[in-house]
Order: sequence, then C-alpha cells, then structure tokens
Amino acid sequence: MTQHKPLGKVYLVGAGPGDPGLLTLKAYKLLKQCDIIIYDALLSEEIVKFIPDHIEKVFIGKSRHHSRLSQGEVEQMMVDKAKEGKIVVRLKGGDPFMFGRGGEEAETLTEAGIHWEVIPGVSSGIAAPAYAGIPTTHRDCASSVTFITGHDATNKPKVEWDKIRKAFNTLVIFMGITYVKDIVQQLLKSNYSADTLIAIIESGTTPKQKVRTATLATISDLVDADPVETPALIVIGDVVGYREKLKPFLSISQLDLSEFEK
Ligand SMILES: C[S@@+](CC[C@H](N)C(=O)[O-])C[C@H]1O[C@@H](n2cnc3c(N)ncnc32)[C@H](O)[C@@H]1O
Repeated sequence: MTQHKPLGKVYLVGAGPGDPGLLTLKAYKLLKQCDIIIYDALLSEEIVKFIPDHIEKVFIGKSRHHSRLSQGEVEQMMVDKAKEGKIVVRLKGGDPFMFGRGGEEAETLTEAGIHWEVIPGVSSGIAAPAYAGIPTTHRDCASSVTFITGHDATNKPKVEWDKIRKAFNTLVIFMGITYVKDIVQQLLKSNYSADTLIAIIESGTTPKQKVRTATLATISDLVDADPVETPALIVIGDVVGYREKLKPFLSISQLDLSEFEK
C-alpha cells in the first residue's frame, strides 16, 4: 500500500517594517523551526541573519518592478511545498494582510486544502509614522485613520478620493509615491485645503529613515527637489504637526540582536 506523506502547513508571517527588533516572538521561533522560507524584497537583511543555514531560503526578489516569480507561481510553490509535507513560512514585510496579498494567498491555500496560519506583523503603516514622531491617532485631531493603497492591482487608482473623510481622520497611503502629485490634486479638488499637513516617510524604522514634511501646496516642489526613494509612506492630516513638538525628546534605540543570529 502506498504511504501518503502528511500534508505540511503554510504560515503567512509578518516580518515587520524594517527594524528587526520589531519582529514578533512567534515569527522569530518559526524562522528557526520551519523547513522553507519564501521571502521578498521588503525583508530586512538583519532578519535573514536569524535564519539557520539548514533552512531552505527562496528569495523571490519581489518588488513592483522586479519580480522573479509571478504571484501565481509563488502561491503554487507554497501549495507544492506543503504537499511535500513541509512547514512553509511565507515571510512578508510589515503585516501580511495589510496590502501584502496575504488574503489572496490564504484563499489559494484554502482552495487547495492546505492548512495555514497567519502571524501578524507590525505594519509600516503604524510603525513608520511612530518612529517619525507622528501618532496616527490623537484625541484632539484624529479619531480615525484610513489606510489606502496609492495604486491597485491593475495600476488604475480605484480609490474614491472625493469621498474620503477629512475631519478628525488621518490618511496613511501605501505605494503612493509614484502618484503623490495626482493624489494631492485629487484631495485639493475635494475638500482638503492647501495648508493640510503631509509627511513622506522613506525607509521607515531603518537606519536610512528619512522624513519630509510639507503641506499639500508645497509637497510637489519638495519631491521634485529631493526625489523620494522607496519604500515610502505618505501620511496626511493634523497628526503630522505633532512631529515638530515631539521630536526633541524622541529617540529610537537599535537593539543589539547578535545573540539571536543563527
Ligand atoms: C506591498 S506594500 C506592503 C505593506 C506591508 N504589508 C506593511 O504592512 O507594511 C509595500 C508598501 O508599504 C510601504 N512600506 C513598507 N515598508 C516601509 C518602510 N519601512 N517605510 C516606509 N514605507 C514602507 C510602502 O508604501 C511600500 O510601497
């Protein structure tokens, strides 16, 4: 009688926004115990150092413009490896379900009858503003926060910018740098005023973090004069104003994580 190998399992794991100290304990333990890790470009090199040599690592080189494998091929790889009985970690920048295609991957796994688990990560949408001294909510000026993608899967903006709530709301825009001028125009055409504050946080939570602040009226000139590198996040709303006030006593420590390395 043929023996069937038991099915493996796929973990959709958030690696956090860049600072390796923000990796969760659950994610860290799995990185040491799984059989294979499939990871992409938003993953910090520092985290790769935690992964023992015997674990298979598949770098799919994924960024918007440079993918070695299509999304379908990545999903198929997860299914195939799990069917071989492997414990698969699909490691993603930030949180897997925050603009990370984790939802699509979970659907594929479910349809293929593969057991899966999600390990949420610290999203850049929260952490990058925090490290910049920008609280995404504040009782005095932001009772809600809206997470937005600057482009959708087909590169055609689907967001209804004119319907976005302005009062007491913070906008956090992912993948929006290419479209920042269009986004600003859309907001100015709806109910946003030219003096609304905006921040662009480049490489948030990493040693390369760079923060630009301006208003909707001045941001286009600022990015023309000083082009933004990706990854970067746009934050719009009154909360941006807290940065100047909070910055003087804000420090971000980098933990010595050498004891966690393989
Ligand atoms: C495909 S989305 C993935 C988001 C991720 N799942 C998360 O929760 O942070 C990629 C976008 O996230 C944002 N991003 C990711 N890491 C970032 C960082 N360290 N600093 C600023 N923005 C970042 C950028 O807007 C980038 O284009």
